Amino acid sequence: MVDMSTTLAGTVLPNPVMTASGCAANGKELNRFFPVTDLGAFVTKTVMLDPRSGRPTPRMAETSSGMLNSIGLQGPGIDAFVEHDLAWLAERGARVLVSVAGNTAEEFGEVVQRLVASPAFSCVVGVEANISCPNVANRGLVFACDPVSSEQVVRIVRTRVPEGVPVVAKLTPDVTDIVAVAEAAVRAGADGLTMINTLLGIVIDTDLLRPQLAGVTGGLSGPAVRPVAVRAVWQVVAAMREGRLPTAPVIGVGGVRTGRDALELVAAGAAAVQVGTATFNDPSAPRRVLAELEAEVARHGVDRFADLVGIAHDRMVRP
Ligand code: FUM
Repeated sequence: MVDMSTTLAGTVLPNPVMTASGCAANGKELNRFFPVTDLGAFVTKTVMLDPRSGRPTPRMAETSSGMLNSIGLQGPGIDAFVEHDLAWLAERGARVLVSVAGNTAEEFGEVVQRLVASPAFSCVVGVEANISCPNVANRGLVFACDPVSSEQVVRIVRTRVPEGVPVVAKLTPDVTDIVAVAEAAVRAGADGLTMINTLLGIVIDTDLLRPQLAGVTGGLSGPAVRPVAVRAVWQVVAAMREGRLPTAPVIGVGGVRTGRDALELVAAGAAAVQVGTATFNDPSAPRRVLAELEAEVARHGVDRFADLVGIAHDRMVRP
C-alpha cells in the first residue's frame, strides 16, 4: 500500500492529483467518467465577477504537440457559480480549489468576498488566484508578468480568504525571472504556487494566411510545454531550498498525460499535479494519471508519495 496523501499549506489531501483549471468546466461533465471525489482536489474554471462570453471564435487551435486556447475567461460570474456549480460540488463532497480572476486587484477581492460568503464555501480547500491568464487583450492585465502587480493581487486575495484556507498563485512562464514573481507572491501571503499557466502563442492558417484564432494569440498547452513546466517548478523549488525565498508548496501543471509525466513534476518539487489538456481527448485522464502515479511511487520502492517530492534536487549529478 502506498500513502498518496499530500499536504498543501496545512491542508491534507488524500492524493496529489487535480484537474487543471478550465479543462473540465465545473465538474458535472467529468463526473460522468469518474467521481470527482476521487481527485485530491477539483480545480474549477476561473470565475470572475460578472458573466462573460469570452473571446470570439474560433478560439481553439490544435498544434502538433499541444493546442492553443483563446477562451478569454468565459464564465457565469461568481454569483451564478456559487449557486449552481460550487453548490453541486459541495453536495458531491468534492474538495475544491476555486480559480478566481479579476480585471483589477480590487475585483479579485470582490470575487473572493462573494465566494467566501457562500454556504458552499465549506467544500473549498483552497483559492487559486489566476494572475496569469494570457487571453486578455491588455497584456498589462497578466499580473504575473510583474512582481509588483502579482504582490498587489495576492495581498488582497489573502486578506479576503479565511485563515486556514490556502491561497495559491498561478504563475506564467512567459517572464524573464519566474523566481522573482514567485518570491513576490509568497511574500505577499501566497501559501502556495501553481506553475505553469499556458505560454502565449500564435498559429497561422497556411491556406488562408491569417491567424487561426479570432483573438490572434492563445495559450499553448499540452505535451510541448511539459519541459517548461518542469523547469519552472525546478527553478522556484531550488530557490526555496537555497533559502532565497520562503518555502511554499508548489502545484505542477503542464503537459501531464501519464503517471510518469506527473512524476517528473513531482521529482522537480511539485507536491501536487494538475492534469489539463489530456482531459480533452481522455476525460478519465486525471483518474488514470493518479493510478499510474501510485504505481510509479511503488516502482521506486517508497511507500509515501511525499518522499518523492523534490527528490531530483538531491540526486542531481554535481560537476
Ligand atoms: O479562459 C481563459 O482563457 C483562461 C486561460 C488561462 O488562464 O490560461
